[in-house]
Amino acid sequence: MQDRLESLASKAREEIGRAQDASGLEALRVRYLGKKGELSAVLGGMGKLAPDERRRVGEIANRVKAEVEGLLGEAQRRIARAALEAELQAPPIDVTLPGRMRRPGRRHVVSRTMEEITRTFQRLGFDVVQSPEVELDLYNFESLNFPADHPARDMQDTFYVHGDYLQHDPGAIVLRTHTSPGQIRTMLARKPPIRVVVPGKVYRADSDATHTPMFHQIEGLLVDRKVTMAELKGTLDAFVRAYFGADRRTRFRPSFFPFTEPSGELDVSCGACAGQGCRLCKQTGWLEILGCGMVHQNVFQAVGYPEGSVTGFAFGMGIERVAMLRYGLDDLRSLFENDVRLLEQF
Ligand code: PHE
Repeated sequence: MQDRLESLASKAREEIGRAQDASGLEALRVRYLGKKGELSAVLGGMGKLAPDERRRVGEIANRVKAEVEGLLGEAQRRIARAALEAELQAPPIDVTLPGRMRRPGRRHVVSRTMEEITRTFQRLGFDVVQSPEVELDLYNFESLNFPADHPARDMQDTFYVHGDYLQHDPGAIVLRTHTSPGQIRTMLARKPPIRVVVPGKVYRADSDATHTPMFHQIEGLLVDRKVTMAELKGTLDAFVRAYFGADRRTRFRPSFFPFTEPSGELDVSCGACAGQGCRLCKQTGWLEILGCGMVHQNVFQAVGYPEGSVTGFAFGMGIERVAMLRYGLDDLRSLFENDVRLLEQF
């Protein structure tokens, strides 16, 4: 048994001396000193020895165990030193190299334009309200005085979430084609006087250089007693001067919308050519930015306001159009291609 202990010690000396890394060393520790290790295996036979003999072997076993522990500790320090040395020998890290910059992002030009326009109307005293993008046909069309078969509906063909538009299903649910249902929801929720803007996304089945299936609008609605077209024109004039600059001129042209009477469209003098005519304004000197008009009495009726009790005006502005005019873009689709080289210019 003594021989076995001695040979165990010499084998341990050799193997531990050769250990190269921490995990190899740990494996050796388990192999020699572990509960099921070699030392335990040898000592398992101690019970059969005579008392004298047992004491003598016990002393040797303790010495061997202490030696192996010492060897393991020494090897551990040796390995740690070697690791540190290797780290110091490795090519140094150049702490003066520039780091990888995270460039700060920015808000999309459409979001910014929408915010700027909204803020301008807030300064004019308008509240900002939100209205759903998924909307009842009832609010998107019916309540806004679009008769069931009216061709004005075709100009705003849209995406059907539920129900069949062609069957004029009154329960149909659509992606709103304009922010005007925000007028209906506001009037159903509030009593006059009302002065709100409703910014947000709208959807139409339409796609070319000047139309995308999703775009943004901001709706305006003002309802009170004896509101006239003078207030409509004055408000929109004030907006144009505040937003585009004091030198811009405005022009109102007659138009048609089922939910306003009379209806108009507002042109702003072209900023690129100061009204002289250029590519952006198609040589006309004017750029159209919104539809507007005096709220139709049928709309007031649809929301239950007593006939003749109030008048009001409304307008709906295309955010992308305003952004294009402001920044001189000539293809609306470029706003949604997510090309950072374009977007970071604003
Ligand atoms: N909703 C109309 C459109 O999208 C614009 C509009 C709004 C016209 C309010 C008049 C009054 O074309």
